[in-house]
Amino acid sequence: MARQIGDVILEVEDLHTYCFTRFGTVKAVDGVSFSLREGEALAIVGESGSGKTMTALSLLQLQPRPAARIVKGSIRLEGEDLLKKSEQEMRRIRGRRISMILQDPQTSLNPVFTIGNQLIEAIQNKHAGEDRRSLVRRAVDSLKQVRVAAPERRVEDYPHQISGGMKQRVVGAIAISCGPRVIIADEPTTSLDVTIQAQYLRLLREIQEETNLALIFITHDFGIVAKMCDRVVVMYAGRHVESGPVRDIFNSPSHPYTQALLRSVPSMDEDIERLYSITGQPPALWDLPEGCRFAPRCPHADDRCRSSYPRTLTAGRNGTTHTAACWRLDHPG
Ligand SMILES: Nc1ncnc2c1ncn2[C@@H]1O[C@H](COP(=O)(O)OP(=O)(O)OP(=O)(O)O)[C@@H](O)[C@H]1O
Ligand SMILES: [Mg+2]
Repeated sequence: MARQIGDVILEVEDLHTYCFTRFGTVKAVDGVSFSLREGEALAIVGESGSGKTMTALSLLQLQPRPAARIVKGSIRLEGEDLLKKSEQEMRRIRGRRISMILQDPQTSLNPVFTIGNQLIEAIQNKHAGEDRRSLVRRAVDSLKQVRVAAPERRVEDYPHQISGGMKQRVVGAIAISCGPRVIIADEPTTSLDVTIQAQYLRLLREIQEETNLALIFITHDFGIVAKMCDRVVVMYAGRHVESGPVRDIFNSPSHPYTQALLRSVPSMDEDIERLYSITGQPPALWDLPEGCRFAPRCPHADDRCRSSYPRTLTAGRNGTTHTAACWRLDHPG
């Protein structure tokens, strides 16, 4: 089945997740909005600490509690507001309707259980009442789906008996085992070498072609974004600052932060010796400036930028969904 971009399946609006610590309130996610369609691959990019993982965890209501709390916003999955669900209802939603592949595959498997048992653990609630043999068959099937060779033997293995790339696949198999409609892959590749990375991401895209699920890739890597994704959300200091179709963002980035990020990507065709880096540091999330958060690092910032946060404005030509939060786009008339 070919991948088809369908209806909006997930809609995040004005999400705020704060961490309440002894030292103050860390505004880890401070106004993030985006939507995701069936069959679509959306990238969330931004520097370390910009709130990408906290956004993803919030979608599943797995933000580190009790410190982190969702204080504002809405998260609608297939039209239902997830923030109105009880913990018990969320347990039925996680894995089955929305699933996450965690940042580090090495630590997301339990060393004392076999691969098969960890898969069964993930699927048994959905298939309550089935006997062990049929659960093992399902575990084997989900390993097949992520192209693990000799899956009948692999279910007997412990995590230390398989390679890093294979572990990553197993984590992927657990994530897809209950047939979710949305999968969030948080830096699925950091601890793997580049070839395995590419294979793994290609695999996720293949599974997407088969099942038309919606994917969110969280990454630092614009190369991955260009190859794998349809749309991009750029985050800076807890907020989305620009979003739109991949091609528009690459061809005409509108936010000075996105422009700087793209300049910092090494290009294949040019022989760049030194990586461009963005001067300055992101603001402290417990002491944010009043105006645009990028203003202290922005070459174009003026008084308005420093005093009031820019609205999200249309950046693309008419009819595109390319937007950015930058006062430079505010041309009256
Ligand atoms: N339990 C916590 N208590 C306080 N602050 C936290 C907690 N967890 C995360 N943070 C802060 O929230 C902010 C956002 O973190 P997050 O992990 O979402 O960033 P990220 O964009 O995923 O970064 P990376 O690219 O490094 O994975 C960071 O400044 C982090 O220090
Ligand atoms: Mg992260």
